Amino acid sequence: MRAWEEMDERFERFMQKYESPLPEWLQKIERQAEEDEVPIIRRSTQRYLAFLLGIIRPGRILEIGSAVGFSALLMANFDPSLEELVTIENYEPRIVQAKENFSNSPFSDKITFLTGDASKLISTLEGRFDLVFIDAAKGQYPEYLKLVRPLMTSGGVILADNILQDGFLLMPKEALCRRNRTIHKRVREYLDMVCRDDQYITDVLPVGDGLAMTRIL
Ligand SMILES: C[S@@+](CC[C@H](N)C(=O)[O-])C[C@H]1O[C@@H](n2cnc3c(N)ncnc32)[C@H](O)[C@@H]1O
Repeated sequence: MRAWEEMDERFERFMQKYESPLPEWLQKIERQAEEDEVPIIRRSTQRYLAFLLGIIRPGRILEIGSAVGFSALLMANFDPSLEELVTIENYEPRIVQAKENFSNSPFSDKITFLTGDASKLISTLEGRFDLVFIDAAKGQYPEYLKLVRPLMTSGGVILADNILQDGFLLMPKEALCRRNRTIHKRVREYLDMVCRDDQYITDVLPVGDGLAMTRIL
C-alpha cells in the first residue's frame, strides 16, 4: 500500500507541472478550502472532471455534497452546455461559505443550492439529470444510487468519489476498525449495485481517492 501511495504522490507532483491553471477565482476557493481543511476533490479528480465534462457536456448536473462549492463551480466552469447544476449540502458552516462562493461566481444564475439532508431532498427533485456527482456520506452511497436512478436520463452518467477510501477498500475487512468496516461494506454494496446490474456499465478509476464511473444503458 505504501509503495502505491508513494507512486501516487510522485505522479501528482509530476503532473502538476503540466496542468493548466484554474481561473484565479476558483484557485482562491481551493486555497481557502485547503486552509480551512475542507475536504474537496483532489487535483487528479479535478483534471479528470475538466476533461470529461467537455466530452459529455451535461445539460443538468446534480451534485450530492457541495462542501464550500468548489467541485460544483469547477464542473460549471468546464461544462460548455450547462443549463442547471443542483447541489446539496447539510453542514451549516459550509452552507454559509458555499452560498457566498456561488453568488460571487460567474455561474450564480445556473446553480441551485439546496440545503439539508440529501436523502430527503433528492426525492423532491423534478426533471432529469445527465450527470450525478456523488461526494457526500460514503455510507449512504447505495441509498443515493436508489434515489437518483429514477432521475437519470438514458445514457446519463453517475460519478461516485472516494471509492477507494485511501486504499481501505482493497484491504480485508478484518484489518479495519469498526467504523471503516461499515463504510467498506457500504462502498462494496454500491459497487455490487452498479457492476452487477445490466442497466449499468461501470468502471473504477484510481483517480484521486477512486472514482466510480457508471453509465445508464
Ligand atoms: C467531501 S465533501 C464534498 C466536497 C465537494 N464535492 C468538493 O469537492 O468541493 C462532502 C460533503 O458532503 C456533506 N454531506 C454529508 N452527508 C450529507 C447529507 N446527508 N446531505 C447533504 N450533505 C451531506 C458534508 O457535510 C460535506 O461537506
